[in-house]
Amino acid sequence: MDKEFKRTLVTCALPYANGPIHIGHLAGVYVPADIYVRYLRLRGREVLYVCGSDEHGVPITIKARQQGCSPQDIVDRYHGIIKDSFEGLGIHFDIYGRTSSEVHAKNASEFFRKLYDEGKFITRESEQYYDPEAKQFLADRYIVGTCPKCGNEGAYGDQCEKCGSTLSPEELINPKSKLSGAAPIKKKTTHWYLPLQDYEPWLREWILEGHQEWRTNVYGQVKSWLDGGLQPRAVTRDLDWGVPVPVEGAEGKVLYVWFDAPIGYISNTIELLPDSWEKWWKSPDTRLVHFIGKDNIVFHCIVFPAMLKAYGDGYILPDNVPANEFLNLEGDKISTSRGWAVWAHEYLQDFPGKEDVLRYVLTANAPQTSDNDFSWKDFQNRNNNELVAVFGNFVNRAMVLTHKYFAGKVPPCGTLEDIDKEVLAEIPLLKASMEKNLEGFRFREALKDAMGIARLGNKYISDTEPWKVAKTDLDRTATILNLSLQICADLAIAFEPFTPFAAKRLREMLGSPLDWEILGRPQVLPAGHALGEAELLFAKIEDPAIDAQLARLDRIRAEREAAAKAEAARQVVPQKGECTFDEFEKMDIRTATVLEAERVPKTDKLLKLIIDTGIDRRTIVSGIAEYYTPEAMVGKQICILANLQPRTIRGIESRGMILMAKQGDGSMRFITPEEAVCNGAIVG
Ligand code: 2FM
Ligand code: ZN
Repeated sequence: MDKEFKRTLVTCALPYANGPIHIGHLAGVYVPADIYVRYLRLRGREVLYVCGSDEHGVPITIKARQQGCSPQDIVDRYHGIIKDSFEGLGIHFDIYGRTSSEVHAKNASEFFRKLYDEGKFITRESEQYYDPEAKQFLADRYIVGTCPKCGNEGAYGDQCEKCGSTLSPEELINPKSKLSGAAPIKKKTTHWYLPLQDYEPWLREWILEGHQEWRTNVYGQVKSWLDGGLQPRAVTRDLDWGVPVPVEGAEGKVLYVWFDAPIGYISNTIELLPDSWEKWWKSPDTRLVHFIGKDNIVFHCIVFPAMLKAYGDGYILPDNVPANEFLNLEGDKISTSRGWAVWAHEYLQDFPGKEDVLRYVLTANAPQTSDNDFSWKDFQNRNNNELVAVFGNFVNRAMVLTHKYFAGKVPPCGTLEDIDKEVLAEIPLLKASMEKNLEGFRFREALKDAMGIARLGNKYISDTEPWKVAKTDLDRTATILNLSLQICADLAIAFEPFTPFAAKRLREMLGSPLDWEILGRPQVLPAGHALGEAELLFAKIEDPAIDAQLARLDRIRAEREAAAKAEAARQVVPQKGECTFDEFEKMDIRTATVLEAERVPKTDKLLKLIIDTGIDRRTIVSGIAEYYTPEAMVGKQICILANLQPRTIRGIESRGMILMAKQGDGSMRFITPEEAVCNGAIVG
């Protein structure tokens, strides 16, 4: 942990190329990684920043089937969208590769083959689910059923998205093929497994003893996996999309996506640096850091390290795996399938020039230690009250006043007063705290430190009021603005990792250097140095822009509720116990016509109906007011159970019951003869 490394290899989880990326991905993985990389570079450290699309796996093949195209078409489409989103947000990887590339196929194949040749796998024949109609084995997400842990009826063969449990297909209750809907049968198949249990003692020592500095959520998850006992993990699948298993007799089998994806980090490095990639993966002087979301912890802390250990040949292991928790959206879990997300590419279209705002808000709200929430109101408030009102306002005041009183040239710094000295003393402290937080992957706290410098500057200029002082004392005004501009130059460095677009514009305005070492140093901008034009760093976000986003989410919520209601309505109750013919015969069911109808006062549900039963006129109180207005009932022919024992409801004697068809969601429709018949006709 305290080892000095010469260089850092930063990897970001390879996003699946079966959909665009959203704010949850950004907050969990890519924004923090980008902050870290920018910071290391700012400090002059040697860094390689690797990512790419994860282009294999069952969800991609399912999407291709749904859309009637090939898996390659799907990944081509989303690879482009995702890559552009990263670029648009200022996330510039050294390489953004793809696991459908030839380099990767060759590398992943070779990786598997070496482990295979060295006997590092075990083979197992097992019975696995097979769709007899589609004539295909049902790997992972091709199978759905009821989760044994929470009862979710849409759980997948590898995971329940409702309760988060990792599952195996065998655990699902009432499994069904996602391909044909058929109940699957069991069929024998052989696969290769990595015997993870053999690596358990080594993993315990390496992580539980050697990496106690890892985040508690990461360490805790690893510990619970290890304490639960590791099992052999299948590294192959019966599928036709993926890297073919490079072994004779393995036709129709590919490497499991979670075997090939992490190898993708290596493949992408090879693609970028075919001659020097080993320096990044096989040198003890390289520090490997994986940025991931919490659902990837087991793969990056247990499975991939075990693969690298099995491979040997000097591969390094991660020195840290700063995994984040999840980000929710407006209080609800982000869900790609339900469309409950803010997509990066849409954000970039809807908020052009506001890339920094998203980066800022996702960092200020980062789900570092627990799940956190993104709300559009908070987004607006943080922009307007923090970026605009504090950071932007301070810079603008310093710039505009310097142009006004000193023709846009940095004025000289005169004798320092106590307030000046206090401000100057604060900055190195904030810088030191920022360094500590950034090195410790506490980006939220580091951003607070950076913002602390902006707040300090803003307060300083408010307290010293150079616009007033200028009326009587230009020398003192010069000192205040000199110091203010020095703080602006500090901000242009401190914010480079967090809001790189604004930081760059600020450096251009000031003509100031980008170098971590000079942050907090006095007089970085020499007196007489000419400034550029003053321009606003941030602009307010007005209500209509936020309302449009909220309206979009409202629409999605309404659609979702309508779909859930329709689904509930389709639920059919099981058949009741038998009744005898005599019991049935006892019921007097007959037609009747509603003559009058009115609401029962002070109730929401009850209507009082006067009906003609063919034998009499009587009153029935019925709980149908949610579904029918009194006007809608008058004149309608209905069916009633006439000989139901009378009941008094809200002081009204009700004689009989209207027959209603009641759906799974509780909604009701009355039963009416197909053609008008006389009142009192017997139904039976
Ligand atoms: O969870 C995911 O989105 C995976 N595609 C991450 C893969 S990370 C790595 F192993 F490639
Ligand atoms: Zn569940």
